[in-house]
Amino acid sequence: MLSSAVAVAADSRVEILLDEPIGRISPNLYGHFAENLGGVIYDGIWVGRDSKIANVAGVRRALIEQMRSIKAPIVRFPGGCFADSYDWRDGIGPPEQRPRRTNFWASQLPAGAPRDQRYDPNQFGTNEFVDFCRATGSQPYLAANVRSLPAEEFGHWVEYCNAPAGSTTLADARGSQGDAAPFGVRYWGVGNEPWGCGGTFTPAEYAEEFCRYVAAVPESTSPLSLVASGPDKDDWNWTSGFFDAVARRGQSEFGAIFGFALHYYTWNLSRGRTQDFVDGKGDAVAFDAVDWYELLRQGDRMETLIDRHWQIMGETDRQHVVKLVVDEWGTWYRPGSSPTPENLFEQTPTLRDAVYSAMTLDTFNRNADKVAMANCAQLVNCLNSLYLAHEDRFCVTPVGHVFAMYADHQDGQAVRAIFSAPRVAYERDGSAASFWGLNGSASLHGKTVILTVTNPHISVAREATVRIRGANVSSAEMSVLTHADMHAHNSFDDPNSIVPAASTAAVSGSEVTAMFPPASVTKLTLQLA
Ligand code: AHR
Repeated sequence: MLSSAVAVAADSRVEILLDEPIGRISPNLYGHFAENLGGVIYDGIWVGRDSKIANVAGVRRALIEQMRSIKAPIVRFPGGCFADSYDWRDGIGPPEQRPRRTNFWASQLPAGAPRDQRYDPNQFGTNEFVDFCRATGSQPYLAANVRSLPAEEFGHWVEYCNAPAGSTTLADARGSQGDAAPFGVRYWGVGNEPWGCGGTFTPAEYAEEFCRYVAAVPESTSPLSLVASGPDKDDWNWTSGFFDAVARRGQSEFGAIFGFALHYYTWNLSRGRTQDFVDGKGDAVAFDAVDWYELLRQGDRMETLIDRHWQIMGETDRQHVVKLVVDEWGTWYRPGSSPTPENLFEQTPTLRDAVYSAMTLDTFNRNADKVAMANCAQLVNCLNSLYLAHEDRFCVTPVGHVFAMYADHQDGQAVRAIFSAPRVAYERDGSAASFWGLNGSASLHGKTVILTVTNPHISVAREATVRIRGANVSSAEMSVLTHADMHAHNSFDDPNSIVPAASTAAVSGSEVTAMFPPASVTKLTLQLA
């Protein structure tokens, strides 16, 4: 439990600089990732057309409603590592004629995993995914198989999705499933983690592959935004190696690349342990104060990763034609916290993951000039999930509530905000450590400013004077996500244990005085006079 909050009278300041724009916050910074892994698709999203669970054409209705309410902009599918094992042709045509295939993740599934997670029935294929996106108001972002299919098959998948009605045999195949009009899928990833599960390429080899895939796109399709697979966290050599190889082919080659995808997971390594894929990970729910701060400290590396990779990209792509995409980010804990233990990688997000997610979304907003898309891993029943679902049960996690609160940033103009607050001091492995006291991001939407703030301190509230430089505030509304217990989480039996609550802030001229409780995420909606 948290100790009682000690409010320190106005010890903190936030300055919002409306005349220092950073860039437009692409709605796609609030994107999602749904891999055919564990319980994400079969159980989380797809319940089947004949299911007793409320559904829209086979997709869980409660999920659709939630995703619409958070303005979910884009969903990446089908992987992840799964993408590089997937033959898109298995997922088209009459559902009863589709093949059953061994899922890429079969060997890692926990005991008792349902049959559909081990042997993919291919009932959720391209048409069903596009229908799901339409129902939720999102755009599809498809990841092509580079490791085990030829480039030609990428071109064919694009053609299946985007060729005009009646133009080609594949357009007819799409039409025979009731989708005569093209899907118009704009975003395509070329492979996934080609330095690992996606083919163990060198960066130069992958650059060659990428260019071959670009050449495989059929000419008549609508414009595509192609995403090249980028580095794992701080693998600077991957970034420089890929960009150098593309530059050797000529600067104009950068024009074919919309985004370069960084992956960064926060492992919450147990203290005293270094990188260790399984044993070194911390627990999602059973953690102490130091684990809390260490998870946030590790997550906060996102800003440095964006800065440094961006700088390396600019050494060859001098006009910064290529933007960063962070198409996998989230926390990743050891197994054991899941409400449905047979779902691979499923974990229970807590208040800590809400603060982590808010902090990460703030980082993307602050870097809106560099980051064009980000996809939280993963949407439902997996790592840093917004939702948990099993059979007819469903709940919104604290991470889902953060996405709901932050949706108002979408499409705004990110402006610079300066935060000053006493640092959090703690002890790690016998040494003094510290972390920033308040941080966040601000965006302008006409006469409305959205300010989001996280207070990472587990026991000290921060009172802050928020000043808008150059404008007066006429009203302020506040929404706060916090709990007296830092381990708080929602469950099927107690789905509203942690939900945002309205709060008040005092307005005077250009200043607002606001209290940020310990371990909290806050959204301020400020109307300018
Ligand atoms: O999100 C789970 C896995 O993590 C993805 O399949 C892979 O891309 C990453 O390593």
